[in-house]
Amino acid sequence: MEKFRIVGGRALSGRVSISGAKNSALPCMAAALLSSETVTLHNLPYVRDIITQRRLLEDIGATVLTPELRTHKITASHIELFEAPYELVRTMRASVLALGPLLARFGKAKVSLPGGCAIGTRPIDLHLAAFTQLGAEVKLEAGNVIARAPKAGRLIGREIHFDKVTVTGTENLMMAATLAHGLTVLNNAACEPEITDLAELLNKMGARVRGAGTKRIEIEGVEALGGAEHTIIPDRIETGTFIAAAAITKGDLEIKDCQPQHLASVIDKLREVGVEIEEINPSTLHVCCPKTLTARDVTTEPYPEFPTDMQAQYMALMTQAEGSAVIEETVFENRFMHASELQRMGAHISIDGRSASVTGPTALTGAPLLASDLRASASLVLAGLVASGETMIDRVYHIDRGYEKIEAKLRAVGADIERIRESVTAPLSQAAQPEMVAEL
Ligand code: EPZ
Repeated sequence: MEKFRIVGGRALSGRVSISGAKNSALPCMAAALLSSETVTLHNLPYVRDIITQRRLLEDIGATVLTPELRTHKITASHIELFEAPYELVRTMRASVLALGPLLARFGKAKVSLPGGCAIGTRPIDLHLAAFTQLGAEVKLEAGNVIARAPKAGRLIGREIHFDKVTVTGTENLMMAATLAHGLTVLNNAACEPEITDLAELLNKMGARVRGAGTKRIEIEGVEALGGAEHTIIPDRIETGTFIAAAAITKGDLEIKDCQPQHLASVIDKLREVGVEIEEINPSTLHVCCPKTLTARDVTTEPYPEFPTDMQAQYMALMTQAEGSAVIEETVFENRFMHASELQRMGAHISIDGRSASVTGPTALTGAPLLASDLRASASLVLAGLVASGETMIDRVYHIDRGYEKIEAKLRAVGADIERIRESVTAPLSQAAQPEMVAEL
């Protein structure tokens, strides 16, 4: 098991580069299953989930070449298996994104039902109901989803309405509809930038997707899709996390290779709090925090509102702000796991259902902490950066899922953080995690 050891109290200063967006890379890699030709993706983040997704593609028969660390050339010309097995899906729910492409291109798919995770039950009922509306037969058997296209072999385009906004549900159906017969309309679609990025790739492959980024997406089915080359957008959540890191340490950071317009709601909220954020050019932000932070309420909502994936990081920041902030988490039912760890560092947080109230500023003290999920881990790192003394964060494999070498990036701008590898042999379950390849 690996841990982070952080000694807090240093103001971050310098320049940090943002990696590609994990939540765009994952659906874009799955989209390669829609074609027998090569799809080349650039600017992939070097994170655990991308390694897992690559393993899934290779396990079902796709070829993945990596001419350089952040470029994958994916060719799904000889798919032999049409399934995503449990051992992969349980480590990464986004494996369900193989469902739409396999069903659309081959007329069949078997994907393990993803279990819940730390932040909620996270069902995929909306995905399955929508596939059924496109004419698929969907059965649940021994924890697996078995999906079959209609006898004619192709899905049939329909007008679909999502009862709830679902990001991967929108992505799964958008991919499936590209090869369906006729027009598919997705109503109440997710509008995240990752949806728009995926649609851009699909259209490069020859699909006819219109309206991505709005709540109504139209997809005109085509006979087949070809290869394409595409560069993944920067990670808006990593960008927001580093803005919070500069703010919480009263530092001064230049954040480059980002796309500020993808996190406008985060930037607006942090400016309200007192963080100085200046756009130096379309892909670079300058962030500093000379003034006292002021507590401000926030509610997480689907894009373009304040993202749930920034909620944990925002909570850590509010422990250093003057006054009380109420944080409403409306997307997931259990996304305050970081609160109890922050309380162990001295934070004043009270939880009432999906609402957390944080009162500050509080001088946090370092402590041994346990990471529970990807964004909670980031929250604990931020708290460790400002806490007095030493913070040890265990189970950092959570953070490796979505942040590329975060400790190296933080150390490069002055943080006292290091990764400690436990010498004891990890129990089998942990060893099953796909290991990161050599150091960057
Ligand atoms: C995506 O998850 C992201 N993951 C999540 O990021 C992100 O938190 C989430 O969208 C919300 O923005 C990827 O893109 C790989 P949803 P997803 O379907 O698609 C309920 C991270 O930290 N729902 O938009 O799984 C669901 O339970 C991760 O990078 C159903 O009820 O989220 C949740 O309450 C964490 N039935 C809400 O909708 C369904 O069929 C939103 O879920 C689907 C979803």
